[in-house]
Amino acid sequence: MAEKSWWKRTFVYQIYPKSFRDTTGSGTGDIPGIISRLDYIKELGAGAVWITPMYPSPMVDNGYDISDYTSIDPAYGTMEDFDRLVSEAGKRGIRIVMDIVYNHSSDRHPWFLESKKDRTNPKADWYIWRDAKTEETGEKTGADLAGGKAVPTNWRGIFGGSVWTWCEERQQDYYHTFAKEQPDLNWENPEVRRALFDAANFWLDKGIGGFRIDAISYIKKPAEFLDGEPDSPDGTVSVHTMTANTPGILDLLQEFKREGFDGHDIFTVGEACGVETEELTDWVGDDGVFSMLFEFTHVLLLFDGPEIWCRPKPWKLTELKRAMFRSQEAVRGEGWLPLYFENHDRARSVNVYFDGLPNPDRTDPGRTCGAAGAGKLTPEERKLAARGLAAVLFTLRGTPYVYQGEELGMQNADWHSPEEFNDISTKWQYQNALEEGYSPEEALRFAAFFSRDNARTPMQWDGSENAGFSCAGAVSAGEGAGAEPWLPVHADHRERNAALEEADPDSVLHFYRKLAALRREREELISGSCRELLPEDEDIFCFERRLEDKCILIAVNFSRKEIRLSERFKDQAAGLSGDQAAGLSGDQAAAPLAEKNRLLPSSRHDVEPGIL
Ligand code: GLC
Repeated sequence: MAEKSWWKRTFVYQIYPKSFRDTTGSGTGDIPGIISRLDYIKELGAGAVWITPMYPSPMVDNGYDISDYTSIDPAYGTMEDFDRLVSEAGKRGIRIVMDIVYNHSSDRHPWFLESKKDRTNPKADWYIWRDAKTEETGEKTGADLAGGKAVPTNWRGIFGGSVWTWCEERQQDYYHTFAKEQPDLNWENPEVRRALFDAANFWLDKGIGGFRIDAISYIKKPAEFLDGEPDSPDGTVSVHTMTANTPGILDLLQEFKREGFDGHDIFTVGEACGVETEELTDWVGDDGVFSMLFEFTHVLLLFDGPEIWCRPKPWKLTELKRAMFRSQEAVRGEGWLPLYFENHDRARSVNVYFDGLPNPDRTDPGRTCGAAGAGKLTPEERKLAARGLAAVLFTLRGTPYVYQGEELGMQNADWHSPEEFNDISTKWQYQNALEEGYSPEEALRFAAFFSRDNARTPMQWDGSENAGFSCAGAVSAGEGAGAEPWLPVHADHRERNAALEEADPDSVLHFYRKLAALRREREELISGSCRELLPEDEDIFCFERRLEDKCILIAVNFSRKEIRLSERFKDQAAGLSGDQAAGLSGDQAAAPLAEKNRLLPSSRHDVEPGIL
């Protein structure tokens, strides 16, 4: 049966507004810049645009520290600009999706300023406050990380340091899963929930198409705050281990669904690190709380344990496939997946999946681990690698999410010193690598490879100065004109940019457009079942999408070898239906990186070979 929901039939384009397009010459992207590129997004074929937070913010975490939930940060424009964005996007069949950050606010949010005043003010319980441990109570912990007092627990925040910060005014610690400037809201307080749901409704009234809901797996805290088993030499344990997906969270989220978004023709996608694949159907599907849920299994398999960048581990294609197909399997009967390789928190995917990770083994620092691991790819191979990932992204069952620049095959940047990083988590990860005993050069190697700043360098529109990110007209005129982009433009922007790719029918950009068109034309790519093939193959990512008598076989070669697909199927003919096996003639080789990627036809020859 054909899937009906509009958000299953389209794909989502993600914008990091700070880096997308700057129309004022301030060095920071803005809403008019997004409006000026809506035709580009329409041409790409996206029906929804998720924009990371644009609310007023001190920008400690680039907008994920919100100081007002129902306004627009002046750096990005005005509420009129936003309304115009929704309406201009609507004219092009594109819906705007807001990013809401409800686990925490900024420490400059008026709610927090009120809450921190004293223990009896009306908002005293809007955040999470605890007394520090003292010698007198005999409960002093080893992890003495906040304000010279012993913190209530030994939990380490996602950006390092204790989750507790001492507040002089209240003479108490407040709790923060992320940076100290991002205090966690107290979801147990019904007034807090009401205020957050009202804010969601404010944006819904503007006709937006949905919400991406940030860090939502952390909103429920355990009933008791107790020390955990340390996972680090400094005696701390990750807050993630102690609080992600705490039982009871779904009750809070059911209420959020009821009060926040039920009855609207929108989609919601939660970011829920810590939700296991087996639990997916509690979260999505008919009785679930969201339309889709970002899982982390396939991106975290690069690490040995939590996401600590100096602890990467070699990985295999079979592991990546297993992670992705386990999720496919989990929502087979009910539910829907967001498909992604990139977002604003991840390094660029071609580097991650094809370059090999920096090796944590100090005896052989030049060697990479994981992936092809066979040295640096040539520019042509990079292009093919980007196309290979795109083919997987657009043909698995679910809604593809394309992060700005991914459709151009943008790459990790070159970082030469730790001072160049802007990202708060990169700064901590660098320090942490030093503390784990790595040299400054080694620590920089890990940070440079995994830094979130890799995804945040300005969008590469053309080969001009600033890659066309800052509007040239504004740069030569007006106040503040000509400011440097807030993050340096990638050195490769003259060879890799939207204008060049527009002119090259063989480019990554054109490949994305073709895939989007193919997904629109072939119902089996939206509504068909999805079955993995060649699960044990370390070179080929292979599966079929089937709807009634239509079937598409997708095979992407992740290796540098030339491979005959028919050979790989020979040994595993059982995995393939008889007519498919018969249909795999010798000339249907899975193109190695050195050749063009293409979707291979099924035995029914219902897709022309080389269609892409
Ligand atoms: C999410 C966001 C990330 C942010 C964090 C804290 O993981 O994607 O960018 O730093 O939440 O809000």
